[in-house]
Amino acid sequence: MSSNLDTLYRQVIMDHYKNPRNRGEFEDEDTLTVNMNNPTCGDRIQIQMKLEDGKVTAAKFVGEGCSISLASASMMTQAVKGLTPEEAKAMSAIFSDMMLGKEYDEDRFDLGDIEALQGVSKFPARIKCATLAWKAMEKGLQDHEE
Ligand code: FES
Repeated sequence: MSSNLDTLYRQVIMDHYKNPRNRGEFEDEDTLTVNMNNPTCGDRIQIQMKLEDGKVTAAKFVGEGCSISLASASMMTQAVKGLTPEEAKAMSAIFSDMMLGKEYDEDRFDLGDIEALQGVSKFPARIKCATLAWKAMEKGLQDHEE
């Protein structure tokens, strides 16, 4: 990765960290709520989603964690909006592959800002930070189906 791209990606991550999108909680109870912690550091995140007509119409998060985990949560809550649960889980699988440095289908979704996190795959200890919100989202959708 060129250092310019690295710098750009770092800026995108810091922007999501400092100006988180969808941070907060829904006030009504008609939401899917899931809490998850990162076992390696104990940081915790709560993801809430609203489902209507078979799609995720909105998502919010609160939690504590490092800049990578919170930036990733911010990006995830934007990315899932408008997706069906199946699509959201497929996107999470693609994100996970990207973080693990595996090949992934770049064309299936417009990943946008999310691609800024791919540099984290070089730091194995931080991969769980980046995937925390996504795993929580997946678990929430999975539990909802069962
Ligand atoms: Fe705890 Fe990253 S160090 S989530």
